Amino acid sequence: MSAIIVVGAQWGDEGKARVVDWLARDADLVARFNGGDNAGHTVVAEGLTLKLHLVPAGILHPTAVGLIGAGVVVNPTTLIKEMDELVDLGVDVGPARFKISAAAHIILPSHLALDGAREEARGKSAIGTTRRGIGPAYADKAARVNLRAGDMINPEQFADHVADGVRAHNRRLEERYGVSGTVSPEDAAAEYCEYAKRLAPHLVDGTALVGEALEAGKTVLCEGAQGLLLDLDHGSYPYVTSSSVIAGGALTGLGFGPKEVSRVVGVAKAYTTRVGAGPFPTELLDEIGDQLRGTGANPWDEYGTTTGRPRRCGWLDLVILRYAARINGLNELALVKLDILSGLEWLKVAVAYERDGERIAHFPAEFGLEELAKWQPVYEEVSGWTEDIMGVREFDDLPAAAQNYVTLIEKQVGLPITSISVGPEREQMIVR
Ligand code: IMO
Ligand code: MG
Repeated sequence: MSAIIVVGAQWGDEGKARVVDWLARDADLVARFNGGDNAGHTVVAEGLTLKLHLVPAGILHPTAVGLIGAGVVVNPTTLIKEMDELVDLGVDVGPARFKISAAAHIILPSHLALDGAREEARGKSAIGTTRRGIGPAYADKAARVNLRAGDMINPEQFADHVADGVRAHNRRLEERYGVSGTVSPEDAAAEYCEYAKRLAPHLVDGTALVGEALEAGKTVLCEGAQGLLLDLDHGSYPYVTSSSVIAGGALTGLGFGPKEVSRVVGVAKAYTTRVGAGPFPTELLDEIGDQLRGTGANPWDEYGTTTGRPRRCGWLDLVILRYAARINGLNELALVKLDILSGLEWLKVAVAYERDGERIAHFPAEFGLEELAKWQPVYEEVSGWTEDIMGVREFDDLPAAAQNYVTLIEKQVGLPITSISVGPEREQMIVR
């Protein structure tokens, strides 16, 4: 049929994976296009809980082939661990079902060391990265010195290049950060040689795979990692990740043209969360924020899937969703975790930003953090609901206040909300 792109509309952790898993039932190919194992994508279905960092979220559907696209940075250590875990759960991730673009980039252990050293050196202004080596690997990609997945075709030569890469990183760690001896080039080479042998059968020409699928009228589901405000170009720089997380990133990360895109779905949590440092206009530093976060007792509480860090929580910000609609060219929104708002007597949503009596409806992104900090959110207060909505499957069966909340978002953002998740399980979904 065509390409469907799923992207995060906030600061990541929106629940993109459950939307991808839902749409994957009708997809032939599910492809990650950006980021790496900084992503934490959870799917709860068929009695399983999958915590995915690199393998695409549609993998439970036997008809969908998973692809890691050229725009992704792959840490083979985590990838193989994840593949082994999936095999233990009975999920097929053999070469026929799970493929890696030869043009995807490789993360070395010394990239992780560099990520950590740079964060330490930043001190108070640390970005709060996941320390997965994402930034350093993309930096090496842009500097044209990085290894690509396709280099694994020749494991011995690949191993030599891994050792060289680690040596270069070690010099940088020593000279710039005064850190020495973190990663052994020889050990890394030996390890990566084995990884190469294991992963080589999965290597493909990713753009050809995507292109042929589209030409044959198949559906390619593009799974974004992170969310708009973590985008390297359009997020809250420098508190961003190092890749293109927006819909445009699917085109560059997978290698196809805009005329193939039939649908762009923005995933938004019913409130807002952020992990790591940086601005967050609607952040709640009070007991409501704590209530949204939860204690960590439930797997769906707001603690990072990748790092376990508590997430910062706040009210829904419609200024951000409007920004997401524009930058991504969204056709629709998928609203996630509406059930978490149950029990709050009233709710607030930011409908605009304000300073000195001046109001704006758009997100003031480009002039940086100081500019953003000058603006205060303007809230609209609405009634909450106390009913448990986790069993609801039809929009009309939601409490009136919950229906109003959904309708308010649609009206303010100017997009239809085509699905609403009311619990962590695949089937806890209202599809409209
Ligand atoms: P998913 O796909 C939430 C954040 C980090 C940090 C910043 C930069 O699960 O939505 P990085 O390690 O990428 O250099 O860190 O980006 N971050 C995420 N936050 N969800 C994610 O992915 C994230 N991936 C990176 O916390 O603030
Ligand atoms: Mg995450």
